[in-house]
Amino acid sequence: MKLWGGRFTKKTDDLAFAFNESLSFDRRLFRQDITGSLAHVEMLAKQGILTEEEKEQIQAGLQGILNDLTAGKLDFDPQYEDIHSFVEALLIERIGDVGKKLHTGRSRNDQVALDMRLYVRDEIPVLTGLVKDLRATLKRRMEENLETYMPGFTHMQKAQPTTLAHHLGAYHEMFGRDLSRLHDLRERMNECPLGAGALAGTTYPLDREYTAGLLGFRCATANSMDSVSDRDYLIELLSALSLIMMHLSRFCEEIICWNSNEYQFVEIDDGYSTGSSIMPQKKNPDIAELVRGKTGRVYGALMGLLTTMKSLPLAYNKDMQEDKEGAFDAIDTVESCLSLFNGMLATLRFNKPAMERSARGGFTNATDAADYLVNHGVPFRDAHGIIGQLVLVCLEKGVSLDELPLEDYQAICPVFQQDIYEAISLKTCVEKRMTKGAPGALIAEAKAEKQVQ
Ligand code: ARG
Repeated sequence: MKLWGGRFTKKTDDLAFAFNESLSFDRRLFRQDITGSLAHVEMLAKQGILTEEEKEQIQAGLQGILNDLTAGKLDFDPQYEDIHSFVEALLIERIGDVGKKLHTGRSRNDQVALDMRLYVRDEIPVLTGLVKDLRATLKRRMEENLETYMPGFTHMQKAQPTTLAHHLGAYHEMFGRDLSRLHDLRERMNECPLGAGALAGTTYPLDREYTAGLLGFRCATANSMDSVSDRDYLIELLSALSLIMMHLSRFCEEIICWNSNEYQFVEIDDGYSTGSSIMPQKKNPDIAELVRGKTGRVYGALMGLLTTMKSLPLAYNKDMQEDKEGAFDAIDTVESCLSLFNGMLATLRFNKPAMERSARGGFTNATDAADYLVNHGVPFRDAHGIIGQLVLVCLEKGVSLDELPLEDYQAICPVFQQDIYEAISLKTCVEKRMTKGAPGALIAEAKAEKQVQ
């Protein structure tokens, strides 16, 4: 049974049907579709538009379909155009003419707008849970590595010494912002479009606020034309997902570098590495590379929907059916990337000696050597020049600042005394960085927290 056809004299061309249909992908919305219909019917009966008996028959029919679909006892019949037509036709087939009253005061335009919102609203806690799990892993790995020294980089060049906990803490912040974005968008989108009809509402005395309440929305949407044509919340979701992927991809890039023979800062667990079919010695960071790579398709979904929505006149246009595949794919992709990445991070082995060795090389304590002079009354600009000369001496001799004999220091500047070595040790460099957000403050906070416990 088709939902429309009264004004048609010819059947739809087969290719046109296949091009137009969305059941092959919007079948995923069956739960949301039926949940929305159950609430709609509840409201219709409260308003006297359906009798109590009609309501009960329709709701029992819908519940039966929901149970059968959930249990996998029912196939999605490809003769139907979309999930909405499929459920309605099946209802009529199962309960007879009373089923034809389900669609009273409703259009597929507000129906699909509702279904997709419900779907996104259901996925937000899943995504939030995964980001929280990842942050919990980060927190644990930070606690284990409060005093694991490593070089901090700018321009991919060793810059100043820091700790692994400090480095990981940066990602902890990024994923914290991701959580707040998911929270914000859920608040903003939590309004119910059902009852907007095709675009201009309806003449039936619907109680839209009642339906909204039944479905757990804060309120009903304000303008019916906007209700059926708004996809902002999906664009916001895709944008939040893109940022999550951007954060994951940056982290993956670092893990890939750190896992290389050149760095050897980390070793990815066998469970999250793969081998090469030709080179027996290889253990590749494929999972990290795939997460990095999949960032592209999530950005693609965002760009795709922004482009689809660009210049669309009010109100509903079929273009909007294109919102689904990209959004579903992006949600699936981010969920799998978050859980895979979490597993990889939880089992990652950090090579502390290699990190510390690297922090010792590359003059990461040069700023601290300059600060030593400043603390002894030398103006910073002069100190900067003096340390630059010392770095040259070190490079000639093939030693680090820690290894340079005191005579060499004093030959360039007599202010230096024996305590310079203490002042530029990794421990001092890190622990003295006590400004808010710096690695020393992080160590102090953790120690204070431990004392409280
Ligand atoms: N499959 C459609 C979509 O996803 C449902 C709404 C159809 N509405 C219509 N007037 N053709 O957007």
